[in-house]
Order: sequence, then C-alpha cells, then structure tokens
Amino acid sequence: MKAIYLDHAATTPIHPKVAEVMTESLQANFGNPSSVHSFGRKARQVLDKARAVAAASISATEKDIVFTSGGTEADNMAITGVALANQTKGKHIITTKIEHHATLHTVENLEKQGFEATYLDVNEDGAIDINQLKSALRDDTILVTVMMVNNETGVIQPIAEIGQLLEEHKAYFHTDAVQAYGMLPIDVNELKVDLLTVSSHKINGPKGLGFLYVDPNVSLQALQHGGEQERKRRPGTENVAAIAGFTEAIKLGQAERVDRYSKYQGFRDQFLQILREQEVTFSINGEDAERVPNIVNVSFPGTNVEALLTNFDLSGVAASSGSACTAGSVEPSHVLSAMFTENSSCTTNSIRFSFGLANDEENVSAAAEKIGQIVKRLAK
Ligand SMILES: Cc1ncc(COP(=O)(O)O)c(C=O)c1O
Repeated sequence: MKAIYLDHAATTPIHPKVAEVMTESLQANFGNPSSVHSFGRKARQVLDKARAVAAASISATEKDIVFTSGGTEADNMAITGVALANQTKGKHIITTKIEHHATLHTVENLEKQGFEATYLDVNEDGAIDINQLKSALRDDTILVTVMMVNNETGVIQPIAEIGQLLEEHKAYFHTDAVQAYGMLPIDVNELKVDLLTVSSHKINGPKGLGFLYVDPNVSLQALQHGGEQERKRRPGTENVAAIAGFTEAIKLGQAERVDRYSKYQGFRDQFLQILREQEVTFSINGEDAERVPNIVNVSFPGTNVEALLTNFDLSGVAASSGSACTAGSVEPSHVLSAMFTENSSCTTNSIRFSFGLANDEENVSAAAEKIGQIVKRLAK
C-alpha cells in the first residue's frame, strides 16, 4: 500500500529538479562565499543569483533579502529585531490570536521582557476585523504582525488593507507569508509591508532555509553576532547547496504558480465532492472566507482528532490536525479556538488536508474514499 500524502502545509516533498540542483551544488560549490579566491567567488555567485531570484519573486530588491534557517527564524528576526531596535519609540506590538507559534511565542517572550501585546480576534470564518486593528493602534505601537494565510485553515488575511492603514502610522508591518508564498501573487510594494517571511520547505525546497524581506526603512537589531554575512543581519557561513535548491524551488514555484493554484483547487473540490457523494457529515472551517485552494480544514461531527488521524494513518493517508509543530498533541487548536469557542467540538474534531506535489487525481480520490469510510465508521 502506497501511503497518500495530504499534509503539504506541514512540509512538501522536495521537487526532483531541486534535489538535482542541490546534489550538484554540494560538490561543485563547496567554497566559502566569503573567501576571495575562485572557489569562494563561485559559491558567492550562487548566493547572488538566489538573492536576485528571491527578491524578484516579491518585487523587492536584492539587498533587502536576508537568508535565514527558515520561517521560524525569519519571524523571530522580524519581531524581536524590530522590537529591540525600536523600543525607545514604544513597546506595543499588535498581532492576532491565530498566528503560527513562531510568531505567538516570540511575541509572548517579548511580553516577558516588558513589551505589551494586543492579540486581535478573528471571526467565525477565521479572518481579522480591520476596525479592531484600527482601534488597537496606539502612539506607542511599533509593530503589527499579521500572517498572510493561516496554516491551519488556509484563510487569507486582509494584508493590503492593513498595509494601507499603516501608511499613516509609524508602526512597521510584518507579515508571515509562509503559507501564501507560491500560491498568491506577492508584491511587497503594493501590499505596503515592511517585513515578510518565507520558508523553503513549504514550496518543495530544502528544510532549514527561508528568507526575511526587510524594507530599507526598517531599523532592525541583529539577533546573532559574528561575521559580515547577510549585511551583518544574519552572520554565519551560508548553506550554499540548500540555497541553490531553494532558488530552483522559487523559480519553479513562480513559473507554475497559476497552474498549481487551479490544479490544487481541482484536487480540493474533487476530494470534498467524494465525501459528499459518500454522504459523510462534515463542515468546512472558514468556508465563507477567502482561502487558498491547497488547504482545507474539515470538521467531522461525532469524531475526535486522535482517532481520525490514527485511522487515516493505518489506512495509508497522512493528514494532520492544525499546525505540524503541535501535531500529535491532544491540545485543541488555538486557531479553531479563536474562531469558535474553546468548548466548540470543532476544535477537537477537525482535520487539515493540504494538497501539493505528491498528489494526482487518482490518489486524491483514493484518499477521499478511505477517509469517507473511516469517518462514517467513527461517527456512529
Ligand atoms: C505560517 C507559518 N509560519 C512559520 C512556520 C515555520 O516555518 P519553518 O518550519 O520554516 O521554521 C510555518 C511552518 O509550519 C508556518 O506554517
């Protein structure tokens, strides 16, 4: 039995072309990019190209891209880096209740260091209310951090509207675009964001790599100290082969973005249609909100997450409940708790299915059939 992977929001399989580029680069570009000799210069060229490709993908300039060890580090760098550099202007940060833990725990850590935070609510569809943000803004607000797409529900937040609102305010605007990048078009100038987080392993690139876009007007304190790499914002010898792979993943993602969008939309619709045909009782969390097509969060009344996931796994289907970082834990999802109430059964009977490179029509149908049978059995 070949297992079927429906958990691309947790991580994605590496694209074969990315693996090829990385394997070649591991041997061909082993030089240290900071070395002045030819080996170093060759490795430096890989970084220069990567920076150009990454910058172009969000309509930014090369010098504004900082390579990091992934989305988590980029979020930490943006939030803590801005907070520490701007604390004389104010100590208030605004975020939302549905951010990834890379953001939430970073903000909570700053609260322990004397910063103040406001956590915006979301409605039943998982979207924030721009008016609540407006009233939360204060003279001492130095940073607003709101994710572009939620990793559990796929719900898209009003980033352009927030960017517009903050034009009139001194607070910097950071968005965690980890789940949006590669699905939605992103232009940092149009969106008016100052900082933006991207992760490589969500777009068929290698793990342990990402980048932070930092607008030149942002004062950011480096969190690590060492060499001059990444314009002193992120010292340490760069992972050149992984960066070469990431570059390839970005290029493929950009070239195929529109096709992937409609392909995954097709998979999602086909998947839900099969559940309906089997007369499975379910509802979609965030159904009426604007969502990306590759993530769907489904509540199955009368069931619970642990039994569902175990049975799916036994039948060869991999999915997850909420964020992969908390998968395996029985705690109700903080995202669904914010959308409904903590006592709502949706927080303990919902599964995230996410589509991507490992899927085709055949395995999506096969997975939906199996899932339908399991849910009907467990919901009895
Ligand atoms: C929205 C979001 N932000 C940040 C991260 C963390 O990224 P990384 O795994 O690259 O550290 C994830 C990963 O699950 C995510 O979904």
